[in-house]
Amino acid sequence: MVCCVQALLLLGVQLALSDRALAVPSIPNRFFYHNFLNGKGNKEIHFNGVKLHVDSAQSSVFSVRGGNATLPCRFWYEPELSSPREVRVKWSWFPVAGEHETDVLVAIGSRSRSFGDFRGRVQLRQDFPGDAALVMTELQLNDSGRYICEVVDGLEDKSTSVELELRGVVFPYQHPRGRYHLSFLGAQQACEEQDSTLATFAQLFQSWKEGLNWCNAGWLADGTVQYPITRPRMPCGGHDLGPGVRSYGRRQLHLHRYDVFCFSSSLRGKVYYLQPSQKMNLTEAQQACEENGAEIAKVGQLFAAWKFSGLDHCDAGWLADGSVRYPITRPRRNCGPSEPGVRSFGFPPPQHKHGVYCYKTDD
Ligand SMILES: *[C@@H]1O[C@H](CO)[C@@H](O)[C@H](O)[C@H]1NC(C)=O
Ligand SMILES: *[C@@H]1O[C@H](CO)[C@@H](O)[C@H](O)[C@H]1NC(C)=O
Ligand SMILES: *[C@@H]1O[C@H](CO)[C@@H](O)[C@H](O)[C@H]1NC(C)=O
Repeated sequence: MVCCVQALLLLGVQLALSDRALAVPSIPNRFFYHNFLNGKGNKEIHFNGVKLHVDSAQSSVFSVRGGNATLPCRFWYEPELSSPREVRVKWSWFPVAGEHETDVLVAIGSRSRSFGDFRGRVQLRQDFPGDAALVMTELQLNDSGRYICEVVDGLEDKSTSVELELRGVVFPYQHPRGRYHLSFLGAQQACEEQDSTLATFAQLFQSWKEGLNWCNAGWLADGTVQYPITRPRMPCGGHDLGPGVRSYGRRQLHLHRYDVFCFSSSLRGKVYYLQPSQKMNLTEAQQACEENGAEIAKVGQLFAAWKFSGLDHCDAGWLADGSVRYPITRPRRNCGPSEPGVRSFGFPPPQHKHGVYCYKTDD
């Protein structure tokens, strides 16, 4: 794949050069450039006084899982050019957790190529001259992060960035054996198994603003361990510290064990409580969902249904991980605390009898 990016790059330079030759036929090969450092120390290259500009109309874009997003980016020249030039546009991505930049798409003229997980899900909009917006479809939970739009015209190279954020729900998650049993990798896996992904700091911070108040520290996508406190109290750092998201900083990914904050977003399909003729143990609950043409719901799916579809049901039910929970959007007597939330009974022994929450995709 690396080979092909380079091939495209070379092609881009050649095309740009031949275009330039066409654009200024009277003085072939007599264009010049000079390098200088501007006040900010950025290297700028000017061709015949023509300058390439790139910017984005929005610094961040919001969407949901399964949705679409358009990350704006446009380029233009000053002074304006009389004939269009072919440039190379490259979109790349810095995942919140990753240190590495990942290729998303490279385009020259009408030809483009997308990479890795983005293949088939991204394209350039190209609605007007200079439009290099990236259109993304079928967004996945882990697509959030910073996207760089880079435009290369010969030796000029300008870029801008757009943050993609997914709207969703953050939930604290504990290992079945109890508090502080998850390494970073274990945490990542636990979230994935529950149809979610490790929450980012921005996602946890947003949930804290919406009232998440949780006294156990959990891993985040960037390898830090933090917890959100809206009502300071004794075992949670005491009364002296104000409300806030408290951080233990970066912890050792293999050595240290905590809980985790997972992130889920909107669902395709629905979660429902299966009214049983009699209460079921965990095995029977799984079978009951299957016989209903569904599967036993995962924790992330229950949270997503609670947050995005207002699922409200005051009966505790089994979930895929062997925990028992129920979702409340309209708090009332005998349905737990006075705030909305997904109530948890932890992980009871699998022979205990409860109802079940099932998940059915809509096809
Ligand atoms: C996303 O875009 C595709 C193609 O443009 C469209 O068919 C689909 O309905 C859109 N999805 C959403 C959730 O808007
Ligand atoms: C992102 O999520 C998708 C679908 O859940 C998965 O296939 C993919 O491997 C994930 N990518 C990364 C970089 O974690
Ligand atoms: C659940 O009950 C069935 C009998 O209906 C039994 O075969 C199964 O072992 C039980 N499973 C658990 C986890 O207790």
